[in-house]
Amino acid sequence: MKPEIIITAKGHAGTMATLQSEFNAHLMADAPDRASFLKQHSSVVRGLATFGPMAVDAKLMDALPKLEIISNFGVGVDAINLDDAKKRKIIVTNTPDVLNDCVADTALALVLNTLRKLPQSEQYLRGGNWASRGPYPLATSVGGKILGILGLGRIGEAVAKRAVAFGMKIRYHNRNKKDVPYPYDPDPVTLAKNSDVLMVVTPGGPETSKIVNEKVLQALGADGYLVNIARGSVVDEPVLLRYLQEKKIAGAGLDVYADEPRVPPGFFTLDNAVLFPHVASATVETRKAMGDLQTENLRRHFAGKPVLTRIV
Ligand code: 8YV
Repeated sequence: MKPEIIITAKGHAGTMATLQSEFNAHLMADAPDRASFLKQHSSVVRGLATFGPMAVDAKLMDALPKLEIISNFGVGVDAINLDDAKKRKIIVTNTPDVLNDCVADTALALVLNTLRKLPQSEQYLRGGNWASRGPYPLATSVGGKILGILGLGRIGEAVAKRAVAFGMKIRYHNRNKKDVPYPYDPDPVTLAKNSDVLMVVTPGGPETSKIVNEKVLQALGADGYLVNIARGSVVDEPVLLRYLQEKKIAGAGLDVYADEPRVPPGFFTLDNAVLFPHVASATVETRKAMGDLQTENLRRHFAGKPVLTRIV
């Protein structure tokens, strides 16, 4: 008999199809009444396949007393309460590494687009302005600028490698100093002060909530840029919006927001921000690799083998 799992939300289509063929999968997002849906499946469900920001908390875990494994599509597990899972001896897996290159590519794309204002210059052309108003105003060079990486993990290192190839100099802050050739700053404020571009790559969750606060943005200053490819929760979003509107920082490149997919409309009219709709890992190849890893973790667990990428 196929193991019973719940898929929390509609996710990557190919992965959903595989999960639905290999497991007895029930889609929670389709259920008109979540409480009765959980009740209906509580005695049999042993696995959760999670997609997106839906919270996986004690309440959900307690509603599924047979739950053995939560297999997340994505490296970030800030939507899953890991302590609650640990207490209940529920395994949690994610999909690290397979997305590093695409996420780092997007990070560099945001640096280039934000400093060089390339999307804005394209809009200028499409608006028919070039012939009537003349050349687009000059932008800011990337080469020679200092990139401060907040969270130098595996993705951060992939970002650093690319930025070096573009002639940038790297600094970083992490909870712990690492054995890397880049200068270390002891806290986010010092890193921001020492950087032209502050790149947020740190995981989300309560420990990093709003660590990019007003003090950090102040330290970044009127010539500094913020790029966030991590989680919207890491930045104090209303303060960031105000700093952009009042030109207290030079610009921002954002892939993530506090309450996705809702983006505060104030951002839409900014000329000094480049906004992507959380697409850092969104390629056919990477999303397939993420789904394959998510599925393989479930497959291995139900076959009595150790999972590949366990975090709890
Ligand atoms: C995905 C991500 O956009 O891996 C992550 O943590 O944020 C992204 O790769 C997300 O998992 C899609 O659900």
